[in-house]
Amino acid sequence: MMERIPEPELMNEEEQAKAYAFADFSAAHNSFVDLFREKFPDIHPAFNDVVLDLGCGPCDVTRRFAIAYPDAGFHAVDGAFEMLKHAQHLNQRQGFIPRIKLIEGSIPGVTFPQQQYHAIISNSLLHHLSDPVVLWQTIQQYAKPFAHIFIMDLVRPVDEQTVKFLANEYAVNEPDILKSDFENSLRAAFTVDEVRQQLNETDLTNLNVEQVSDRHMIIYGII
Ligand SMILES: C[S@@+](CC[C@H](N)C(=O)[O-])C[C@H]1O[C@@H](n2cnc3c(N)ncnc32)[C@H](O)[C@@H]1O
Repeated sequence: MMERIPEPELMNEEEQAKAYAFADFSAAHNSFVDLFREKFPDIHPAFNDVVLDLGCGPCDVTRRFAIAYPDAGFHAVDGAFEMLKHAQHLNQRQGFIPRIKLIEGSIPGVTFPQQQYHAIISNSLLHHLSDPVVLWQTIQQYAKPFAHIFIMDLVRPVDEQTVKFLANEYAVNEPDILKSDFENSLRAAFTVDEVRQQLNETDLTNLNVEQVSDRHMIIYGII
């Protein structure tokens, strides 16, 4: 089994953030929303609470979520100013400014506008964290009783050969910077067993961990 190779937490390089903001993540990001719907059929499309999105980047997932749940509001958090710059621009261009509030800050340590949330989502943040426990502790701290938690992230492949195979399969037409980002993210990702271990250590064992594709897992449940 390949050892984890962490990558820098924040995506604050101008060129990297731009390439990420303009990449086409529609397949993975639509499946994020579809899987949320499938796992939480009790959340009505007219759900009108505020959703906390951790590590929102350019808010592509947030906007897709906002379309699926047209009455929901969003607090979208990221530590990288370069990413939030694109989020602000894209949210404005697509008319989401009234519904998506951007918050610049890194977890742990950032203060959110609300003390508790009914739904917390996060896509592709976990593998960026040098200490993954901070994500689980943030969720513990900010979840309302019976909050809906839905996290998606990459699964670390077994070996370098599989990293290259996946990069060829899913990032071959992307700019070089994005392709190498994807490879580094796969190397920095956790395995399903490691995530289960993290949940054990933080008393979040009622969250489910499920591998949903050759490169993604979801961690979800009501806490
Ligand atoms: C791979 S991007 C995912 C962005 C977005 N969720 C998406 O799916 O398109 C990871 C984001 O997490 C942010 N990030 C990394 N560590 C963070 C931390 N400790 N606190 C807040 N944001 C962080 C990075 O700056 C980056 O924008």
